[in-house]
Amino acid sequence: MLNINYKKLLLKKNKIPITCLTAYSKPTANLLDGKVDLILVGDSLGTTLYGMKNTRGVTIEMMKNHGKAVVKNTKSSMTIVDMPYNTYRNKREALKNAKELIAFTKADFLKIETDKKNIQIVKYLSDNEIKVVSHIGVTPQKFSDFKKIKSVGKQTKDAQRLLNLAIELESAGSKLIVLECIYETVAKKITNILSIPTIGIGSSKYCDGQVLVIDDILNFNSNIKKPKFVKHFTNIEENISKAINNFVKSVKKKKFPLRKHSYK
Ligand code: KIV
Repeated sequence: MLNINYKKLLLKKNKIPITCLTAYSKPTANLLDGKVDLILVGDSLGTTLYGMKNTRGVTIEMMKNHGKAVVKNTKSSMTIVDMPYNTYRNKREALKNAKELIAFTKADFLKIETDKKNIQIVKYLSDNEIKVVSHIGVTPQKFSDFKKIKSVGKQTKDAQRLLNLAIELESAGSKLIVLECIYETVAKKITNILSIPTIGIGSSKYCDGQVLVIDDILNFNSNIKKPKFVKHFTNIEENISKAINNFVKSVKKKKFPLRKHSYK
């Protein structure tokens, strides 16, 4: 059982890979707690849980409710909650929403999708004692159509832009940085140059840690086409389908419920 804190996370940098998976509910939080270092209540819940086309329809209320359910059921891992689309467009809006999310969920960190334009927001939140995780590279809130998502950092200019951005975000106070779909050589450079841990998703083994969406490793929602960086570690739908078929069969054959399932 892990009992993780930020100091321990920093000590893992360049030594022991950091693990992170998403959770949106109590049962998943219970399963992950103490097994992964970080539990992310990602706004990916918009697509995975609510069936939205992208993450732009996710509201602060959704993140508050799912965030609270997860954090309340996490004792040993650290927790991150995503700030949803259009909730951090300026310093005032960002701080108001960040304070509300932290007060309601009690999460350890808030994650925001960052580019050159909102480095000052990261700084403002950090100066106001919000522990910020920055997310760079492919930032899904920019996309209304996920089919248009492509890896970044191949061209020298883009690679330099990402490197500079990561350095500035560390100076602005970011505690961790998520690198999404960034070319291997660039992810490696960023990881080597920063003192804070990098958590990669589709950004190679050279990051300090790895994050994936839990539904993806379980191969839940298998009808949705997954990006190249996803690996299915099991096929949960087979088990669920078996259980559903067995339930239906049992009810139809009057084999369920039995006496022991009834109140007399
Ligand atoms: O929303 C999310 O789940 C994420 C991760 C996949 C990094 O941002």
